[in-house]
Amino acid sequence: MRRALLIGIGTGDPRQVTLQAVDAMQEVDAFFVLDKGATTGTLTGIRQEILDAYAPGAELIRIPDPPRDRSSKDYEAAVDDWHHRRAVALSVAITREVPDGGAAGFLVWGDPALYDSTLRVIRRAPIALEPTVIPGITSMQALTAAHAILLNRVGEPIHITTGRRLAEDDGRNTVVLLDADCTFLETAHPDDEIYWGAYLGTPQEILVSGTVGDVGEEIVRVRAAARAEHGWIMDVYLLRRP
Ligand SMILES: C[S@@+](CC[C@H](N)C(=O)[O-])C[C@H]1O[C@@H](n2cnc3c(N)ncnc32)[C@H](O)[C@@H]1O
Repeated sequence: MRRALLIGIGTGDPRQVTLQAVDAMQEVDAFFVLDKGATTGTLTGIRQEILDAYAPGAELIRIPDPPRDRSSKDYEAAVDDWHHRRAVALSVAITREVPDGGAAGFLVWGDPALYDSTLRVIRRAPIALEPTVIPGITSMQALTAAHAILLNRVGEPIHITTGRRLAEDDGRNTVVLLDADCTFLETAHPDDEIYWGAYLGTPQEILVSGTVGDVGEEIVRVRAAARAEHGWIMDVYLLRRP
């Protein structure tokens, strides 16, 4: 049996890596990353910097990410099929690179429990893998820290969702990840507050906050310009209804 260490690394600043994560890196025989092209180029570079700092000599083994069927109308079935193909590709590489009894390592962006499929893929691998998870700082925590705000107001609940599902939300305290379309422009009220952040934890970090009426269009403009400049973007925001 081999082990799979899923190590949360935070959102881009190598100083967010915890001592627990550094210890776990020393146990790993080979590190793997699914290579998704342009975005992964930068993110893989950051992962390699983290290894150079905390596990010198370790190299990331890049595995081409099998393409997802984006033409399918059945989103869940398409994702399920994609995860299966990822699990097979990873299993082949792990069997080749990690001895029986050894450990495969995954430097997971943010925290492995938040909108990340690594654990799900590892659990359905056709080879026996025992997972261990090391928590990391999420993009939500990087966002609230950068704006110096709390996620919730006193005693209120928090809702975490994606751009695709934002329309179903009540807007009280909502954190939105994975939104390439600035969906808040269609769903939020003009006097809702928005705290937006992109490239959090990296030298390119951008922050905008205000009411949606005042800064909504500015966020769309800033986002498009930054995406054009860097070739990729990751952004997250908190919406709060007064
Ligand atoms: C696949 S999810 C991974 C989330 C990650 N596991 C976490 O703990 O934050 C990717 C989304 O996380 C958010 N995200 C991750 N890193 C970010 C960063 N450095 N700045 C802003 N948003 C980020 C964006 O909403 C992005 O679309």
